Amino acid sequence: MTGTGTALGAPAVRREGRRKVTGGARYAAEHPLADRVHARPVPATVARGRVTAVDTAAALALPGVLAVLTHENAPRLAEPDDPTLAVLQDPGVPHRGWYVALAVARTPEEARAAAAAVRVEYAVEEHDVTLTADHPEAYEPETANAGYPARREYGDPDGAFASAPVRVDVTYRVPPLHNHPMEPHASTARWEGDRLLVHTSSQGGTAVRATLAALFGLPEDRITVDTAHVGGGFGSKGTPRPDVVLAVMAARETGRPVTVALPRRHLPAVVGHRAPTLHRLRLAAGADGRLTGLTHEIVTHSSRVKEFVEQAAVPARVMYAAPSSRTLHRVVRLDVPTPSWMRAPGECPGMYALESAVDELATALGTDPVELRVLNEPEREPDSGKPFSSRHLTECLREGARRFGWDRRDPRPRSRAEGPLLVGTGVAAATYPVLVRPSTAEARALPDGTFVVRVNATDIGTGARTVLAQVAADTLGVPLERVRTEIGDSDLPPASLAGGSSGTASWGWAVHDACTRLTGRLGGLTGRLPDEGIAARADTAGRADADSPYARHAFGAHFAEVTVDSVTGEVRVRRMLGVFAAGRILNARTARSQFIGGMTMGLGMALTEGSTMDPAFGDFTESDLASYHVPAHADVPAVEAHWIDEDDTRLNPMGSKGIGEIGNVGSAAAIGNAVHHATGVRFRELPLTPDKVL
Ligand code: MOS
Repeated sequence: MTGTGTALGAPAVRREGRRKVTGGARYAAEHPLADRVHARPVPATVARGRVTAVDTAAALALPGVLAVLTHENAPRLAEPDDPTLAVLQDPGVPHRGWYVALAVARTPEEARAAAAAVRVEYAVEEHDVTLTADHPEAYEPETANAGYPARREYGDPDGAFASAPVRVDVTYRVPPLHNHPMEPHASTARWEGDRLLVHTSSQGGTAVRATLAALFGLPEDRITVDTAHVGGGFGSKGTPRPDVVLAVMAARETGRPVTVALPRRHLPAVVGHRAPTLHRLRLAAGADGRLTGLTHEIVTHSSRVKEFVEQAAVPARVMYAAPSSRTLHRVVRLDVPTPSWMRAPGECPGMYALESAVDELATALGTDPVELRVLNEPEREPDSGKPFSSRHLTECLREGARRFGWDRRDPRPRSRAEGPLLVGTGVAAATYPVLVRPSTAEARALPDGTFVVRVNATDIGTGARTVLAQVAADTLGVPLERVRTEIGDSDLPPASLAGGSSGTASWGWAVHDACTRLTGRLGGLTGRLPDEGIAARADTAGRADADSPYARHAFGAHFAEVTVDSVTGEVRVRRMLGVFAAGRILNARTARSQFIGGMTMGLGMALTEGSTMDPAFGDFTESDLASYHVPAHADVPAVEAHWIDEDDTRLNPMGSKGIGEIGNVGSAAAIGNAVHHATGVRFRELPLTPDKVL
């Protein structure tokens, strides 16, 4: 059903869906501009060192080749805020896969051949890419990502642990993970005089424009960044990547429009990855099951290029009441590619470990894991002492248990078998913070009775065009089909990125306010509107970013049923069920798709996804989809997502929380806990591949 009526919450279909499936929607590499050429980057083949010579003669002699850029001849950039963008500026090689040259040619095939013909010599230095919990260079940073303090401590966590009658002291390991969106990173750039036009695959075009302006010394109003269609990002497109910088450089150098479409095998080294995390958890409880101490300490890696600290101990500051707690992050800077954002950074690996350890505590206590969680629900946010704006974790657990049939479960491990298959079920909780950022939107009423909403939002596959039209139609009190949305263009009013599950809340708030103002203006008018219509604009700066006296988070509960083949060690998921409390759900269809997408990503994390750092080469071994296994359709069973309606007035005018990431939080733990229930064995290192399980 396409929208009839306003119905915020209605399952309106994606407005660009037809264009996407028929090929009409153009992605960043698909703009067939006259004279367009293609560029292919050359990755470093050593893990640490410097370039001593680049011989481009053979490459330049190949057919169709226009140029080869290196650190010696590439345009100079202003120093970027993000040092991963300082490409071809100096001879240093901070990790394997770092770009050392760029070949530009008429066709993608000619560019690839030219890139392969570039000869690079290096002075090689010793490298270290191996993360260990006791690495001598591990240190405690000031902050983990997103500005969270690296360490929080209250009460006497060590004393509480020493004196507790029931204890769990365990280590968990999450390997490096890769984002691998369907559309690899790509950009097309062209200069028209002193104007720069860029099509790029990014989660936020406003930020790309600002970054390019700073790097190339241009005023922002001479740059247009088009992000009309983006084939996923999962965080890896949350910041500009080398492809866009290289495309702009090559376009300036050759005077032609240039496309840089990164081959998938380059992605792990240059677009970020989820850093591996080594977890140590100590849970102390009384015989009644109440936590007396909770300690979550993590060690992770970053690159020599910049400090990036996966904030994996942060969710332990939100989840459970414990009078004593320590949560801390340590990091080691290694000669590895720079990690970055990947769906639910921090919460996803952190909750995998925490929710697995809570399951271990339930086993140690002989308590039902649903009841143990309910018992340890905090009155206020443990870390800040703030009241929650709303928290319905207990309701999610209860509703999930009811729908899943949890009461039919025999709690004894290894109690259920079907021939060679061991069958088990597991549960885990989910949490994700409510984030919102300032944005600007314009709403216009046209004389034909239709409305246009303009905001530089980005649709990374989520359905942003559709849900923003719903917000506008609801605010204006008009049918959905009378509202058109314009997004994905930096000439539109500036907006925040599609990240941190904050897009809809941030853009929707601005859209809501612009529409409210417009309604006010229209109220005083009589007669026909002028041809250009009547417009109103709203900017949420100072409000969307204001501190809240409330702790604001979404919560959820995951349930999973697995079979473990006792002959092959193969784990299959039979069914997954999630129940979420994420404020008001604005579009039932696209929300469900976000939830089950996140849950599917958790399934991959639990069973198949994992990357290995090769100590000899200093690079990820699994760099394409043939070796890095994401779930295929046959791996994904019945996945159900449900939600509990929350009426939370302390969020934004729509009352929504973010939904893009929470499905990915805790789902791997529910599967791991089900594997323990099936087998009676705890596996504390992901993924649960047959070689580990057998
Ligand atoms: Mo998401 S990792 O915040 O794009």
